[in-house]
Amino acid sequence: MTKVFVTGASGYIGSHTAIDLLEHGYEVIGIDNHSNSSPRAYDRIHKITGKSIKSYVADIRNKNEVKSIFEENKDISCIIHFAALKSVDESVQKPALYFENNISGLINLLSLQEEYKIPYHIFSSSCTVYGNTHDLPVTESTPWNKAESPYGLTKQIGEQVLESIVKLNEHISGISLRYFNPAGSHPSGLLGEAAIKEVRNLIPLIMEVGIGKRPYLSVFGSDYPTRDGTNIRDYIHIMDLAHAHTLAVQYLESVPKSNNLNVYNLGAGEGVSILEAITSFNKVTGKKLNYRLVDRRPGDVVAIYADYNKAKNELGWSPKYSLDDIIRDSWQWEANKAAFLSQ
Ligand code: NAD
Ligand code: WQD
Repeated sequence: MTKVFVTGASGYIGSHTAIDLLEHGYEVIGIDNHSNSSPRAYDRIHKITGKSIKSYVADIRNKNEVKSIFEENKDISCIIHFAALKSVDESVQKPALYFENNISGLINLLSLQEEYKIPYHIFSSSCTVYGNTHDLPVTESTPWNKAESPYGLTKQIGEQVLESIVKLNEHISGISLRYFNPAGSHPSGLLGEAAIKEVRNLIPLIMEVGIGKRPYLSVFGSDYPTRDGTNIRDYIHIMDLAHAHTLAVQYLESVPKSNNLNVYNLGAGEGVSILEAITSFNKVTGKKLNYRLVDRRPGDVVAIYADYNKAKNELGWSPKYSLDDIIRDSWQWEANKAAFLSQ
């Protein structure tokens, strides 16, 4: 059985990807320092799949910790690297922390990957690498603009570091997956985003308003040059995103070592405005979301959505879930989340 080493395995995208990997016959070795997640996610992975992952509490900044895990698990074939800090706002306040965690952590991991001759690396990148672009939909060759935040810079640098390693190391092939706006939960209602840090993303906030934890949603800006004046984003269901990782592992296993870093956009390919997301919430839940139109949020791009044809043609990936599915699954998880957190 192919062994996949997953960093950030109890986090939002890592835990859902672990499910997809287990369901496709992979063995998963997961590490996490639980700075933004709980090990209880592993119990839910087991409940959903009937299989367990081998998990370690470890920090990617601590090379010795990771090294001892590689010593114990000799024949790992792929690293999927999710572990990172991901708050744009926090990165503006604490840039050094972001560079240390996201860049030093990656470099530690890659140097051990070289030492242990682990052949494949899949890096969690983001549409944030494109910065404020006007070329829509965004393709993988859309030029990068200046990073809008230290967090965005860590993704740009991370891809460049990995690209250099892949180019020069005779053993390592790599893929960088550029996620657009991940959202939704496992359709069972047993697992979803359960971040320790406050969530500021649109879909979880809509759920919190819907369930009564917040009085209203602030819609940041209603005078943008879009069809209804609100920002446009590309929300991609977490299980679609998770499956792309399994396909990326399978792709790396099936092609000869390449000296190029393969990059793929992972988005639904459709722009959705904030008001459209609210309309979907109202339709799916039968409720009426309370919202207020407020000032623009500094740093927001007007609109961004993906062209995912490269992932479709090369990885055989295409999204299966709709915006309504994202809302339905998020709503189900919102109802179950408190019980998970208080366990
Ligand atoms: P998350 O916070 O839920 O998961 C990241 C996990 O990594 C957490 O469980 C955290 O505890 C762990 N972690 C952080 N630093 C660590 C360290 N030094 N050592 C060990 N573990 C550490 O975030 P997520 O949404 O699952 O994001 C996963 C990856 O995807 C990140 O690299 C993120 O930048 C990237 N990404 C996320 C989004 C998004 O909107 N969720 C979009 C684009 C890219
Ligand atoms: C979506 C839309 C807001 C909250 C971020 C990161 C990006 C990537 C994905 C990691 C925007 C609007 C939001 C609210 C609102 N992550 N909004 N009221 O900013 O597109 O992307 O997550 O790599 O790097 O920047 O996501 O969910 O914060 O916002 O009106 O209370 O919802 O203005 O248009 P964003 P988001």
